[in-house]
Amino acid sequence: MARYHRRSLILFLVLALFALTIISPSQGFLGTEKKIKSEVFFSPKLVMNPGSVSNSFLSDIDFPRGHIGLKSFDAEVVDEAGDPVPLHETYLHHWLLRPYYARIGSKFLQQEMFRNDGFQRQDPESNPDSGSDTIPVRNGGLCTNSLLYFFGSGSETRNTSTYLPDPYAIEVDNPEERPDGYEFKWLLNVHAIDTRGVEDRTGCIECLCDLYNVTIDEYGRAIGPGYKGGLYCCYDKTQCRVKSGFDNGEKTRNLYLKYTVRWVDWDNKVLPAKVYVLDVTDSWKKPEGSIGDSQEHHCHVEYEVKQCKTNGDGCIDVKKNSFMMPFNGYIIYGVGHQHLGGIGAALYRENGEGICTSMPKYGNGVEPGNEAGYIVGMSTCYPTDPVEVSYGETLNVEFNYSSAVGHTGVMGLFYIVVAQQLPKPESFLPNLFQVPPRSLSFLAVLAVTVVVALVVLIAAMIYRRQNREDGYQSLST
Ligand SMILES: *[C@@H]1O[C@H](CO)[C@@H](O)[C@H](O)[C@H]1NC(C)=O
Ligand SMILES: *[C@@H]1O[C@H](CO)[C@@H](O)[C@H](O)[C@H]1NC(C)=O
Ligand SMILES: *[C@@H]1O[C@H](CO)[C@@H](O)[C@H](O)[C@H]1NC(C)=O
Repeated sequence: MARYHRRSLILFLVLALFALTIISPSQGFLGTEKKIKSEVFFSPKLVMNPGSVSNSFLSDIDFPRGHIGLKSFDAEVVDEAGDPVPLHETYLHHWLLRPYYARIGSKFLQQEMFRNDGFQRQDPESNPDSGSDTIPVRNGGLCTNSLLYFFGSGSETRNTSTYLPDPYAIEVDNPEERPDGYEFKWLLNVHAIDTRGVEDRTGCIECLCDLYNVTIDEYGRAIGPGYKGGLYCCYDKTQCRVKSGFDNGEKTRNLYLKYTVRWVDWDNKVLPAKVYVLDVTDSWKKPEGSIGDSQEHHCHVEYEVKQCKTNGDGCIDVKKNSFMMPFNGYIIYGVGHQHLGGIGAALYRENGEGICTSMPKYGNGVEPGNEAGYIVGMSTCYPTDPVEVSYGETLNVEFNYSSAVGHTGVMGLFYIVVAQQLPKPESFLPNLFQVPPRSLSFLAVLAVTVVVALVVLIAAMIYRRQNREDGYQSLST
C-alpha cells in the first residue's frame, strides 16, 4: 500500500509543479536575464615604476560591438601574470569609460584628442572643432565639459557592484543615431599611482604637489600657491618622491586594467537607462526664471578638506549641493564616489526624503580587495520601488569627510542610472502569454480549469487505489 501511495504522490507533485510553472512565470522567463553575455578584456599595458604616475587615455579599446545594452563594467589592476595588484602597491586613482564616434579611416593622434576627457585640467590650446574626426558620446549629464563617462570608479572598484537590474541596460551604438561615415568606439582613461617605496603613501595618493615637486601643470601653466594637492600635480609621467635608498632598478613592471563587460543584444524587451553624474563641486546656480535654460554645469571635480581646528567628534566636513534634474524618469541604481577620508554620501529630495545613501567600505587586510586603510568598496542602491523624478525637480547631494586630518584632491560624485520608463505589466509575462489582456484572462481561466481537473482526477485515482488495497487487505484477514 505504501508503495502505491508514494508513486501516486510523486506523480501528483510532478503534475502540480508543472501546472504551477505554467501559471506563474518564474524569473527565468523575465526580462533580459537569460541573454546576458560576458567577456573579459585587458587594456594595453601601463608601465609603472616606484612613485610613477600613469594617466592614460586608451582609445579604441577592445569591447563588444554592435547595438547592445550594457549591464555592468567591472575593472581591476592586474600584473603580467593576470594576478590582482593591491592598492598599496598600485593605487588606482580612477578609471573612466566612455564611448565616441570616430570617422571611418581617420588617422589622428588619439591620445591627444582626449586630453580633456578625464578629470584633469582643461588644455587651453585645445580647439573643440579640431575634433571633427571624433564626436564624443556623452552620458545624460549633468556636467557640461567633463565627467561624460558611462562607467567610472576608483580604488573602490573591486567591491562595488555596477550591475544594472533587469530589464534595464545602457543602450549603446543605436545604428539610427550613428552619424554616416562614423563608427562607434570606446575610450578608457586609467589613472594609477605606483606607491612602492614612496616616502609618504597617503601624500602620493592625495597628489600633494610638494611630493611630486610640481609647480606647473601639464600644460606649463603655474599652479597657484593656494593649491596644495590634487590632479594638477599628479598628471601622466609625474613622479612621487621615493625613499632614498629604495632600489629603483629592477622594479619596472607592466600592469593592465582587466575589465569584465556584461551586456545583452538590444531588443524591445530591454528598457533603456541613462547615466547622470552629480558633482558636489559643480558651480551651477539655480536660474531665476524658467528652468529650461542654464544647463551650463561647471564641475570642478575635486576639492580640499581642511583639518578641523576643534579636534574631536565634530571633525566632519559636510559638503552639499543641489541641482535641478533635466529629465523625467526613475532612478534604478545609485552609488557615490569618495576618496580616502570619506565617511558617507547621500542623495535626497528637497523635502529631505532619502533616495540613496552610499557608504565607503574600508579594507582591513593586505590582500587585493581588502587593503587596510583604503576605500575598497562603496555601497550601492537598488531601489525596490522605482524612485520617480520629474523634470525640474531639485535633488540634493551630501558628502561627508573626516577632517581629523586634512585631505587634498577629494571628490564627491554621485552616479545615478535613470530609466525613462518602467516595464509595462504584460512585459513581465513569458512570450507564450504575450497576448492581449482579454485573451490572457481566458488563458488563465483555462489553465486553472485544467489544473483543477487534473487534481480531481488524481485524487480520484488515489482514492480508488487505496480502496482496492483496503479491500484486498480485508479479504486476506
Ligand atoms: C564585497 O565583499 C564582500 C565580502 O568579501 C562580498 O561578499 C561581496 O560580494 C563583495 N561585493 C562586490 C560587489 O564585489
Ligand atoms: C624639483 O624641481 C626643481 C625644478 O624643476 C629641480 O631643480 C629640483 O632638482 C627638483 N627636486 C627634486 C627633489 O627632484
Ligand atoms: C553627514 O554628517 C552629518 C553631520 O554629522 C550627518 O547628519 C549626516 O547624516 C551625514 N551624512 C551622511 C551621508 O553620512
